[in-house]
Amino acid sequence: MINISVMVSGGGSNLQAIMDAVADGRIADGRIALVLSSRDGVYALSRAQRAGLKTVVISKEEYKDADKKADAILAALSKAETGLVITAGYMSVIHEKVCAAYAGRMINIHPALLPKFGGLGYYGLRVHRAVLEAGEAETGATVHYVDTEGIDTGEIIMQRTVPVFADDTPETLQKRVLEEVEHDLIVEATALVVRELAAAGPGDEAAKRIARSDSDEAFERGGENGNPVE
Ligand code: GRF
Repeated sequence: MINISVMVSGGGSNLQAIMDAVADGRIADGRIALVLSSRDGVYALSRAQRAGLKTVVISKEEYKDADKKADAILAALSKAETGLVITAGYMSVIHEKVCAAYAGRMINIHPALLPKFGGLGYYGLRVHRAVLEAGEAETGATVHYVDTEGIDTGEIIMQRTVPVFADDTPETLQKRVLEEVEHDLIVEATALVVRELAAAGPGDEAAKRIARSDSDEAFERGGENGNPVE
């Protein structure tokens, strides 16, 4: 059984999709061990508490120092014996050492077809505004691994598309992406990754350690800024 920690910042509709899929068995071999929010008082926390899930708030107001904030996140993930981290609408910077510690075990959902419309500054409605400004005929969502190389640069796991219509606004596009593809995509990608992690089993611990020490080196090479995810 893989312990999943979900990192959130807002409404938590993707969290809800994951919770529903764990409850009805579409995500087999996984359970939600922790919901970690970058903000207090958000609806994602109410959803989690209502379902009796463990929650923690680690905010930048409380942790002004990015390094200490990363340590607090790592401690919370470790206490929950996290096997997979999902950033689902997590609107904060993730320190590189957190990404390194969970290399291959951390996935993010981004509301566009990466590698287009990803990276620094592409979050929230800005993503959808950029899609409209570029005159794209379609957009969609991407689930990808979070790596230590850059922002939204990790290996793509799954993508799904929706059409862009002539009268779309950033708001209508955001709603279409979220409701028509994101929720199904995060469930399917999570089910796949959980299945793979569960199948890897304890025998693969050595491989996991190698992956982790590789990313420690990448972290040391890579500077201090960490990866914002969206
Ligand atoms: C979604 O578009 C997600 O991709 C983005 O934030 C939006 C809201 O997500 N990162 P949620 O309702 O909080 O899951």
